[in-house]
Amino acid sequence: MSVRIVPSLLAADFAQLADQIAACEAAGADWLHVDVMDGRFVPPITFGAKIIETVRRLTALPLDVHLMAVEPERHFAEFAAAGANGLTLHAEVAPHLQRQLAHIKEVGCRAGVAINPSTPLSAVSEVLDDVELLLVMTVNPGYGGQRFLPHSLDKVRRARRMLDEARSRAFLEVDGGIARDTIGAVWQAGADTFVAGHAVFSAADPGAEVAALRAACEVKA
Ligand code: DX5
Ligand code: ZN
Repeated sequence: MSVRIVPSLLAADFAQLADQIAACEAAGADWLHVDVMDGRFVPPITFGAKIIETVRRLTALPLDVHLMAVEPERHFAEFAAAGANGLTLHAEVAPHLQRQLAHIKEVGCRAGVAINPSTPLSAVSEVLDDVELLLVMTVNPGYGGQRFLPHSLDKVRRARRMLDEARSRAFLEVDGGIARDTIGAVWQAGADTFVAGHAVFSAADPGAEVAALRAACEVKA
């Protein structure tokens, strides 16, 4: 199983955005993660289409957009036009999840669904055929730099089993507290796509950190 390392721009220094993205790209980052927060699903407000468009011009890497927003469907078309490659909405604000996932595909993006630490896997179990990426949050969303929640390991294991049993080829992504000391165990538990904000951008050399995270999976695999 291949590993995807996905730096989260939430932790980047926006005064040096172009350089930091270039360093990640040169170090072999697979995608870039863009955290959209609307001040309602989570308290902070972060980015919108303008930033997605800016990042799109700075890199050829796929943009993995994490929508921490209520009524996420209001943004699908705009974000797709701005250059998003994947859109991930939260199951907690998706009463019509099957239709919302179909809508993401209609705008030409990979359809992802995220679940908070307290949300059971059963929230997505009826729509696995429609899911192209399952994001198991390993912290409560809203802020970077939090500690990985240890209970997540077992949840990732169960998510892996659920996807395998459904013969799903969806990516299994984790987000929150992913660093050198946590990534190996999450990889062994069955995740394949790793978002990392603080670990990458608080390092003296973000590019080297991307490589170190990948190596931590390969060593323990
Ligand atoms: C948190 C965001 C994350 C955040 C992760 O709500 O969804 O993508 O950037 O940050 P770290 O890796 O610092 O925990
Ligand atoms: Zn995120």
